[in-house]
Amino acid sequence: MEIIISQTYEQMSKSAAKVVAEVINQKPNAVLGLATGSTPLGLYKELIRMHKEEGLDFSHVTTFNLDEYVGLAADHPQSYHYFMWENLFKHINIPRENIHIPSGTARNYRAFCQWYEERIVQCGGIDLQVLGIGADGHIAFNEPGSSLGSRTRLKTLAEQTINDNARFFERKEDVPIYAITMGVGTILEAREIILLANGANKAEAVAAAIEGPVSSMITASALQMHPHVQIFLDEEAASKLKMRKYYDWIQEKKPGSPRS
Ligand code: F6R
Repeated sequence: MEIIISQTYEQMSKSAAKVVAEVINQKPNAVLGLATGSTPLGLYKELIRMHKEEGLDFSHVTTFNLDEYVGLAADHPQSYHYFMWENLFKHINIPRENIHIPSGTARNYRAFCQWYEERIVQCGGIDLQVLGIGADGHIAFNEPGSSLGSRTRLKTLAEQTINDNARFFERKEDVPIYAITMGVGTILEAREIILLANGANKAEAVAAAIEGPVSSMITASALQMHPHVQIFLDEEAASKLKMRKYYDWIQEKKPGSPRS
């Protein structure tokens, strides 16, 4: 697990965008796993800039989003379909048919979730998964207590998540209670993972995920089991890390480290 701490949200977003761009440049038909929420907005903004100014090409890229609220149609302004379209997809040259987002209005959720899992495999698996983290330590909507081997499924949201996400809705009562989410097991199968977190309200969850025990109570801690994870933080989100000095030392010494 590599911890990269930036002074600001903008710097954090740019560092993470470089990783995404590198994956696409090395493998133009890369399969990306994508997150919604406030955290990746800066990353998506930078990817859009790279597309427009530097020719970053998404024409062969395939994407799978982590989650969607149950009951919200794709054109609902608070749906993750709408979010992704507004904040990334409409600004880049990704073909519509390469985009996958869990359906919030499937008639048979169980069958839909199985199809989603199979589709990921059909597309060759996820090369790079982008994650945020909830204040309760969740990744995707894998709330505390989710099996670390869980797969894509319908999940009941925790009260803290409903409270946290109420800011996007007119009234708290409008926040859906259920979501379709990739499982922790699904996420861990990605070849490479980046997790981004900013702000003081994430500091405890970040410290627990990185330095605490692996536990289904903080599903982000499962990333400790993955061989290729980079965590991008701003100062505030990093403020509760005990090994902070060591993480900085590693980054400082990285350029001179033996290559083979
Ligand atoms: C969203 C997702 C969630 C968010 C997390 C943080 O697709 O999977 O796990 O990443 O809830 O949300 P923000 O970034 O809004 O703080």
